[in-house]
Amino acid sequence: MADMLGDMRRTHHCNALAADALGQNVTLMGWVLRRRDHGGVIFIDLRDREGITQVVFNPENHPDVHAKAHVLRSEFVIGIRGKVALRPDGMVNPKLATGEIEVIADDLKILNTAQTPPFMIEDHVDVSEPIRLKNRHLDLRRPTLQRNLITRHKTGAAVRRFLNANGFLDIETPVLTKSTPEGARDYLVPSRVNPGQFYALPQSPQLFKQLLMVSGFDRYYQIVRCFRDEDLRADRQPEFTQIDMEMSFVGEEDLMTISENMMAAVFSEVMEKPLPLPFPRLTWNEAMDRYGLDKPDTRFGMELKNVSDIVAGSGFKVFASVVKNKGIVKALNAKGCIDFSRKDIDDLTAFAAVYRAKGLAWIKVKENEWQSPIAKFFTDEEKAALTKRINMEPGDLVFFVADTPAITNEALGQLRNHLGKKLGLIDDTRFNFVWVTHFPMFEYDETEKRYQALHHPFTAPLEADYDKLDTDPLAVRSRAYDLVLNGFEVGGGSIRIHDMDLQERIFSILGMTPDTYQEKFGFLLDALESGAPPHGGIAFGFDRLVMLLCGESSIRDVIAFPKTQKAACLLTNAPSEPTREQLEELSLRVHRIIPETPEKTDA
Ligand code: AMO
Ligand code: AMP
Repeated sequence: MADMLGDMRRTHHCNALAADALGQNVTLMGWVLRRRDHGGVIFIDLRDREGITQVVFNPENHPDVHAKAHVLRSEFVIGIRGKVALRPDGMVNPKLATGEIEVIADDLKILNTAQTPPFMIEDHVDVSEPIRLKNRHLDLRRPTLQRNLITRHKTGAAVRRFLNANGFLDIETPVLTKSTPEGARDYLVPSRVNPGQFYALPQSPQLFKQLLMVSGFDRYYQIVRCFRDEDLRADRQPEFTQIDMEMSFVGEEDLMTISENMMAAVFSEVMEKPLPLPFPRLTWNEAMDRYGLDKPDTRFGMELKNVSDIVAGSGFKVFASVVKNKGIVKALNAKGCIDFSRKDIDDLTAFAAVYRAKGLAWIKVKENEWQSPIAKFFTDEEKAALTKRINMEPGDLVFFVADTPAITNEALGQLRNHLGKKLGLIDDTRFNFVWVTHFPMFEYDETEKRYQALHHPFTAPLEADYDKLDTDPLAVRSRAYDLVLNGFEVGGGSIRIHDMDLQERIFSILGMTPDTYQEKFGFLLDALESGAPPHGGIAFGFDRLVMLLCGESSIRDVIAFPKTQKAACLLTNAPSEPTREQLEELSLRVHRIIPETPEKTDA
């Protein structure tokens, strides 16, 4: 290929030339986006990583070069040499960085031809995601994806620069390892030399980074791949990247300050925007109370109001009995939405039902009365109290959910986000960070009938709540904190347990016997006994952060080669069946689960 280039070498990228380059001789290289023939003159939009430049082949200047340009098709790879000229009046394209100029070609090298691509390599083309993922090498040529991956690179570079300057050491941890409990299923890798035994891919480097603190490294970071076999969503991939950090001799404040400064460094380098510090904070209780979710989108108001006390004695039996049974009733005021139709309300009821709400009661507030299926159940006193608590004014539409705290909060919290988007209450140009602190230490798993760590089992309980560890575990708060950005959990961490006795106590509350925790985490307990410093850390979802910086709504758009909902790579067709020899070497036999024959349809 070097021969093919001859002495041609690129002088500029395709975004670089403007009117001030008038008359310069330049060489550009890239891909043909499109070719247009205008009465003998051929125009090419030439695209590279940085942008697009218009190139003109004029038969009068160089008939031979012009003739060659005739064969150019979309996605051919070319190099051109030419002179920068101003576009004629009326032909200026203000949307393009190079829209004032064009390059009049006097030499053309066709470096490679290309098959006609299955879709135009442009943003906003109407092509399904499976086709895009199958042809990811072409999809990645689109300007938005190029920009996203460049932003990803810049973000990583800014993070490294910041952490390096603050005394953090980048230390790698194993990928073939043992189960690391972060709440998802493990990806297992069979060991050939140890038949019947498996490595687990790390769900995070959690245990290793704690060991590094015990070893005295003091400040660690890694931009690291993590693997979790869990249900996938727009913000979840089976393999994703964390900015993982750990520090010794620190408390919550230190971790939060360094994280805030790191985010500010990213914003100033990548977004060229200052970030107001410190970030606001909410305790987990406040977040649940006001927003219903532990990852509140604070870009708009419409906060939830707890009205359990007001409706506890009311004639609406659904509300009264929920409160009696330790449930709660909360309200959401959709200001000015009195004109929502029956169908709108039915749709919102169906939306809330996805989050297990059994109903969605509503009140339309008119000038002198309430229009509502439940208005008749309330006394004047109750009405006055609701009006005050929920700030009900004529024109408002108020929704209620009555259920367990978990269901009520989730259903109304999600409804709040949904309405925030639907009603245009969210300013997309804002970046609202908020810390959520004091998470509960445990949650109760009804199916397994045991307590589970809300964060992970190495998180320290709040000292003030030690006395409740045995008597009321669900009331124990932890030293965990999450960083939330625009309604997404972009990071989570905690101060860790550095005392072996306490760690054993937590393991046993989690239902582990000494045998089990010795087998699983004996190495950690040994380390805690060998002089472990107080330590804590945090991990940020790198993909999620970059997604939000890029204004995207799926992390697939900021990952070069992402997987589908079914954890498949459509480009390479992974996962795929191993050969019989591979299975044999690994001492594995596949027990095939034969899919049920699909029912015959008429189609
Ligand atoms: P956690 O499990 O909260 O904490 O993960 C940290 C951050 O990683 C991101 N994240 C994901 N991103 C994309 N796809 C996924 N499947 C996925 N799962 C998590 C989220 C999340 O906030 N070891 C602890 C951290 C610590 O305690 O220091 C941990 O992994 O943005
Ligand atoms: P019903 O008396 O069951 O017809 O319900 C009257 C109204 O209350 C309807 O608008 C239901 O959607 C609503 N509703 C029923 N159960 C609940 C609940 N648990 N929480 C909130 N609203 C409910």
